[in-house]
Amino acid sequence: MNKTRIIFCVSMALMAMGIQSCSGVSRPADNDGHNLWLGDITVKSGPADIAAWKIESKRIDLNALGINDIGFDASGIYNKSLGDEGFSINCVGNHVAVTANTDAAKLYAVFYLKRMADCGERIGDNYLVTEVPAFRYRVLNHWDNPNLTVERGYAGKSLWKWEELPGKIRPEYEEYARANASIGINGTVLNNVNADARMLSREYLEKVKVLADIFRPYNIKVYLSLNFAAPKHLAGLKTSDPLDKDVIRWWNEKVAEIYSIIPDFGGFLVKANSEGQSGPQDYGRTHADGANMIADALKPYGGIVMWRAFVYAPESPDRAKQAVEEFKPLDGQFRDNVIIQIKNGPVDFQPREPFSPLFGQLEHTNIMAEMQITQEYLGHSNHMVYLHPMWKECLDSDTYQNGKGSTVAAETLGKVHGNTAMSAIAGVTNIGDSVNWCGHHLAQANWYAFGRMAWNPDLSSEQILDEWLKQTFTADKKFVEPVKEMMLASREACVSYEMPLGLHHTFKGPDHYGPGPWDRSSRPDWEPAYYHKAAADGVGFDRTSKTGTDAVSQYHEPLKSLYDNVETCPENLILWFHHLPWDYKMKDGHTLWEELCYTYQSGIDQARGFIDTWESVEKYVDPVRYRQVHDKLVRQAKDAIWWRDATMLYFQQYSKMDIPSDCTKPQHTLDELRRFRLGISNYETPSLEKLPEYTLE
Ligand code: GCU
Repeated sequence: MNKTRIIFCVSMALMAMGIQSCSGVSRPADNDGHNLWLGDITVKSGPADIAAWKIESKRIDLNALGINDIGFDASGIYNKSLGDEGFSINCVGNHVAVTANTDAAKLYAVFYLKRMADCGERIGDNYLVTEVPAFRYRVLNHWDNPNLTVERGYAGKSLWKWEELPGKIRPEYEEYARANASIGINGTVLNNVNADARMLSREYLEKVKVLADIFRPYNIKVYLSLNFAAPKHLAGLKTSDPLDKDVIRWWNEKVAEIYSIIPDFGGFLVKANSEGQSGPQDYGRTHADGANMIADALKPYGGIVMWRAFVYAPESPDRAKQAVEEFKPLDGQFRDNVIIQIKNGPVDFQPREPFSPLFGQLEHTNIMAEMQITQEYLGHSNHMVYLHPMWKECLDSDTYQNGKGSTVAAETLGKVHGNTAMSAIAGVTNIGDSVNWCGHHLAQANWYAFGRMAWNPDLSSEQILDEWLKQTFTADKKFVEPVKEMMLASREACVSYEMPLGLHHTFKGPDHYGPGPWDRSSRPDWEPAYYHKAAADGVGFDRTSKTGTDAVSQYHEPLKSLYDNVETCPENLILWFHHLPWDYKMKDGHTLWEELCYTYQSGIDQARGFIDTWESVEKYVDPVRYRQVHDKLVRQAKDAIWWRDATMLYFQQYSKMDIPSDCTKPQHTLDELRRFRLGISNYETPSLEKLPEYTLE
């Protein structure tokens, strides 16, 4: 072996061991991202009767915490203030004592300690903390189909290999449960809201049972999305009318069958009379009639119904108003084990929407928020967008329903109307069968953040991100600080380069990836022009009380007046509520046209800057994750220019104004962009090579 080769081998060995080289930090060894934030995701199983917390507690680095041992309270006395899932941790000297009523709560305490250790925090003498989860139901929604496709899923195929179940069990199932338990998720809806009735067949229930058995030790219940027409499709009944005796009997028997197979089954998620799904209105019945029939069947077993408020019809002049129009008249008619599941905004998971007014319109009905973790409208798994700031913006919004302080968080926690027993929150997952689970390494932060937020909605975006970065990459400040800053800025950057100032739904359908303000569709309310209303006289959706659709009136004062008045409407939502002339004067003195151009430009500049930030931390990241993230950041910056080109060149036909000379020059003509076809389905994210060519300056 020659000298050069020996030096090379030694340095490779040092690198593999993660040893500091003389040049400073050595490059971490390649990492495919499969371990998530857990360091090592592999499950260590013990004898079947050993609780998960016992096994997990052995995996905590006591030295890192600066303690000798962890003791678990075995008094058997039920501590009411902790409930079934809360815990307290107390450190005296070098000894940690955990108080918790159940195995599940002990598991959460163990993961709390693991997180501390992995973030490099030590527990000092007299350390005392009590943690009780805020929301009772902390649920992931999978939009997975029996044929393994995932609707709006951008991380490969479904994690659930239905064709192999119940016989073959993949290790990922338990890894998934372990990862979710580590962030406090306690429920999962396994299948798409556009539900295949087959999921309720005996054949599929036997498969679901296998997953439920794997998840149970991790305190995760399974739920299913149901197809409301299942009595017709599965049992051949003539109707699925919720007031029909045979239909009611069928659901009662089906639910009994489910509980005989899965005794702790969580319940159902229902998309009814929405986007072509069947529902009670097919039979002249109401959402309450439908939900209550299912709720009655579940009640004896403690199951719940999450009934979605995502409903709208093409003939309405304003889709944003329809959930309130349909559900407000039904307030008080739903059973107490029904929760109305409301998307964060009134339209559909756009990069920025005002909060859905429905959160402030019901008083005698349980409500919950549905957030989207998968990035349907935020660049799929090609763009780095840390979503917690967007969700928190919604949860912290004040509905003013009962005066100041009636935030969406308080409403959904049941604090505004005193029905805290049924608090819940759902997140549409970004998980698939790709090795790194989420398609984009940095998108794992969104899965993590959703769980942490469901446990504690008061945590800041920064704190959650700080934890995630330290556990997933390194606690080195020189890495954590710049990357944190980059990710914290990413949501606002995405709003700026996709749809600033309250623009929404200007996507090219139906894949929802790139811009298409000109796009036509089979339904008017799926066409971008329905939302942006660009014309010679200006742009934006007039939702004001005097000249518009009066959607502002679905908000309580002072919000109604705030949004209604163009002078007081926040500029980041101005085109959501107002139709304004192109030369409208913005607060900073720009015309609306200029403001749009410059806001797009700021998004482009930020996305370009993300590449520089990432390059500046290269030595702290293993080569595999570094390169994969880098490639995607480059594409993100190119997509930012694509969005600007498409939107502003399209708007220019009406405004007849020039893009300011200090903005990036368009790289394609409107005609070229209109001709461009992505040709992907609702079940995939475009490969980087398929996207329009752009160069970065
Ligand atoms: C969006 C999405 C659909 C999904 C629907 C829903 O419209 O594009 O794929 O089914 O939301 O939330 O039900």
